[in-house]
Amino acid sequence: MLLTALIPWLCTLAVTSEAAPTSTDYDQKPGNASGLSSVIPSGDIYGPSSSLWVNGTTRWSTFSAPTFDLLAIPKDEAEVAEAVQYLSTRNIPFLAQGGGHGYSTTLGVIQHGVLINLENFNHIQFNEGQSVTVGGAVVYRDLIHALHNAGRELTVGSCVCVGSTGAMLGGGHGRLQGKHGLGVDNVIKIRIVLWNGSIVEASEQVNSDLFWAENDGNHYNADMVFTGDSLEGVTNTINSLIPNQDPALAMDFLVFTDSSTLRPVVYLNLIYAGPQSKGQQYADRFASTPASPSNNSKHINRLSINATVVPWSDLNDAAAGGAITASCATGSRQNTYSTNLKALDVATVQSLYDSYSAFIKANPLAAQSVILFEIFGQKAVEAQPDSYSAVPHRGSSNILALLQMVYTDDSVAKAVNDWAHKWRDTLASPRVSGYPQLYTYQNYAHGDEPLGAIYGYDLWRKQRLTAAKRKYDPKDVFNGYHNIPLNGKW
Ligand SMILES: *[C@@H]1O[C@H](CO)[C@@H](O)[C@H](O)[C@H]1NC(C)=O
Ligand SMILES: *[C@@H]1O[C@H](CO)[C@@H](O)[C@H](O)[C@H]1NC(C)=O
Ligand SMILES: *[C@@H]1O[C@H](CO)[C@@H](O)[C@H](O)[C@H]1NC(C)=O
Ligand SMILES: *[C@@H]1O[C@H](CO)[C@@H](O)[C@H](O)[C@H]1NC(C)=O
Ligand SMILES: *[C@@H]1O[C@H](CO)[C@@H](O)[C@H](O)[C@H]1NC(C)=O
Repeated sequence: MLLTALIPWLCTLAVTSEAAPTSTDYDQKPGNASGLSSVIPSGDIYGPSSSLWVNGTTRWSTFSAPTFDLLAIPKDEAEVAEAVQYLSTRNIPFLAQGGGHGYSTTLGVIQHGVLINLENFNHIQFNEGQSVTVGGAVVYRDLIHALHNAGRELTVGSCVCVGSTGAMLGGGHGRLQGKHGLGVDNVIKIRIVLWNGSIVEASEQVNSDLFWAENDGNHYNADMVFTGDSLEGVTNTINSLIPNQDPALAMDFLVFTDSSTLRPVVYLNLIYAGPQSKGQQYADRFASTPASPSNNSKHINRLSINATVVPWSDLNDAAAGGAITASCATGSRQNTYSTNLKALDVATVQSLYDSYSAFIKANPLAAQSVILFEIFGQKAVEAQPDSYSAVPHRGSSNILALLQMVYTDDSVAKAVNDWAHKWRDTLASPRVSGYPQLYTYQNYAHGDEPLGAIYGYDLWRKQRLTAAKRKYDPKDVFNGYHNIPLNGKW
């Protein structure tokens, strides 16, 4: 399976899959997967007692996770096709996995399934004409290093262990989107296996060149810590940078908990994909300043700043003091709620901060949970019309807000969910979000959203996606990830 690119309209078909009963054979029980070895070599199929089982089936999040009885590690495209055809025609649930970072609760519908681990599809090949072909399991870390070594750059996600194909299929927001558009906007062609084992290529001749890195591929990175009472001043300053945001500017605004004191930390990671001097100017906007009654500005008390110039290949690991890479660790429940925001509502951010602080104090088992606002450039994203692809909410994604709730002890599960669910709803209310309805980046969706929040509410989108679903997945076997219903009812 190779990904040079992807036709956005096929987004929903390839990330994950589960062969569920179709409308015509609704009461059939799933078949017996052990016959899989009749179509692919038994040496590529493993059971739970295999020494490869843990490595091959471990996913990032254990929250609402899919479960598997069998692991297939196909060697080539033909084996993927045979396996998919075998499983789908027998109503056996399956999931194709690259990075294994998807966390939507909808994945939990896949129980006692077969995991098709794509780890052998890890190739990265540069082509003539400045494109690159990427296997379905290549994680961002490997892609970033290969591109950087070739003097190129591309919009990628902030977390190095995420699968590049899965992330792009959901749209592919990232720090460089202001310069280069969404990850998916850069895709030329994708090869995918359909439900019946047919392999198809989808393509659209769009931005066919990878972008050449500027500044020798170096980026300015500043990590800043503020006092809790700087929240309003920092929030106002971020808001002032959002209109016509510099395409090279990307900010991650976080509130997390210092595990030794259980107190909240106000943290800003600011990255500038351009000259250091320009990055410094933006960081200076967050320098300590007294409040000024004359213009009603609030004070900022910056406790520390660590500003460095980092090659793009090392940026994700360096950013936020390495915290994003540290969060690659597997084994925790990741229960995330998310919504897009037009700007940060100052009063709501303050209440959220106070509520988070009290919540963690009362539930220290959830102390790894973070509030995250991603504020990336919009220029190249908004340069495309809203109808450009299946990615919705172009022009309505100024901030991606995440309530990323992390724990291992289920005694806090209910409290965590109640808190985060309530706050997602508060943030998403039109008065606070600045948008008329709930808009959510597909890769950040919890799984409880109306599908319109993920795919767009326009009737034409629903009709076009439903038509694509009926054509390419008529038996509804790819239905584990924000599935589009065949009956068009959503
Ligand atoms: C599946 O089939 C195999 C051999 O065909 C058999 O040994 C096994 O018991 C079956 N499993 C179930 C759950 O029916
Ligand atoms: C499986 O093993 C490979 C090679 O040692 C490693 O890179 C990878 O992270 C492991 N995967 C998991 C989920 O542990
Ligand atoms: C407000 O006034 C102070 C003092 O005159 C000045 O330093 C600061 O930059 C001003 N802030 C804004 C947002 O204009
Ligand atoms: C500052 O950031 C760099 C990476 O950009 C990191 O290597 C270094 O350890 C950081 N220093 C401190 C004091 O946190
Ligand atoms: C496989 O499925 C696709 C999409 O539903 C369909 O267009 C195609 O004709 C099928 N191929 C075969 C060989 O039946």
